[in-house]
Amino acid sequence: MGREVASAFGRWFALLDFPVRPQLVAVCDVNAPALDWFRQVPGVAHFDPDHRALLARADVDVVYVAVPHHLHESIYFDVLRAGKDLFAEKPFGLDLAAARRVRDEAERLGRFVRVSSEFPFFPGAQRAIAVAKSGTLGRILEARCSFLHSSDLDPTKPANWKRQNATCGEGGVMNDLGLHVAHVPLRLGWRVRSLHAQLQKIYPTRPDGKGGVAVCDTWDNATLHCTADIAGQSAPLTLEMKRLAPGETNTWSFELLGTERGVRFSTKEPKTLWQFRRDKEQWWEKTDLGFTTPFKTITGGIFEPGFPDVLQQMWAAFLAERAGRLDGRFGCATPDEAVRHHELWTAALESQRTQSVVTLPPGS
Ligand SMILES: NC(=O)c1ccc[n+]([C@@H]2O[C@H](COP(=O)([O-])OP(=O)(O)OC[C@H]3O[C@@H](n4cnc5c(N)ncnc54)[C@H](O)[C@@H]3O)[C@@H](O)[C@H]2O)c1
Repeated sequence: MGREVASAFGRWFALLDFPVRPQLVAVCDVNAPALDWFRQVPGVAHFDPDHRALLARADVDVVYVAVPHHLHESIYFDVLRAGKDLFAEKPFGLDLAAARRVRDEAERLGRFVRVSSEFPFFPGAQRAIAVAKSGTLGRILEARCSFLHSSDLDPTKPANWKRQNATCGEGGVMNDLGLHVAHVPLRLGWRVRSLHAQLQKIYPTRPDGKGGVAVCDTWDNATLHCTADIAGQSAPLTLEMKRLAPGETNTWSFELLGTERGVRFSTKEPKTLWQFRRDKEQWWEKTDLGFTTPFKTITGGIFEPGFPDVLQQMWAAFLAERAGRLDGRFGCATPDEAVRHHELWTAALESQRTQSVVTLPPGS
């Protein structure tokens, strides 16, 4: 992910009239080949295997931290206590308690902190959010939010840190993919009142990449059947996070259905918005949105956006908000939203354990 961010900064000139220009000046990785990759990036002058050396630098204002989940809390604390602002990665700590500690420390120190979740910056997602906020859907029928992968279908794929509770967290796939799914519902103010979770461990072992076998104790697939308050109405909300979803590479989707109107967006069709309406007949209308990103760029409106584009848009939102220039646009996930997404996964783990519907405390 660090490479992706270097790439987004490297073509920052694509953004038009943007008030801030980030410069990547220092990089840290404990793995020498990973660190060496950044030597080709213009402008990077410092390469440190120890993050504390990077944090001691006076020319570093903001730190992006993309490390395995068990290291989030300690490195985020080091960043905050070094007086730097933080662009954190999800899930913002191994579990709910860790996320609360980081949020509280950031508040105490007055640092600007946001958490990475780029898919809502697709133009289609932005339009779907606008429809969801419009108050024109009629009676809310249901909503579905999902993020689906299929790379783990192959049982010969070696295990890595994301397959183990000690490094990924007990939430497993929910820690890994969950903020992508929860960011928009949380931002829209939807409240999950109760949920029933179906969590699956599909391959309990995998090759360890060194000729042996590694135990994979994380949840691979999660489907959460929630009862939520959506725009003031109680309705079913399905949250799906899956590593084994046949045919899906990195598919983020959002669907909200009402009796009068509905909206659907999926990164499978990255420039397409589907909207439902009815008169004497019922219509699912398809609109090609093109490159109508929240922050304007040199790219013509007829072209379609992709992952590197929305990642750059997310960073633009982070830097604009930090500079007080978000101007009403959609912002990056907040520490409080990261805490609240962990509250959902904690309830889901309890539901799985007790095989029951779990009620969330008011305010979750
Ligand atoms: N926003 C997204 O779309 C997205 C996508 C993938 C991963 N992520 C998140 O990014 C984070 C990293 O995931 P990844 O897939 O890039 O993992 P990765 O394993 O590919 O990379 C992690 C890097 O951290 C380095 N590292 C480990 N310990 C370190 C330390 N103490 N100091 C410095 N560097 C250290 C490793 O050497 C490695 O290069 C996770 O929080 C993950 O959830 C986000």
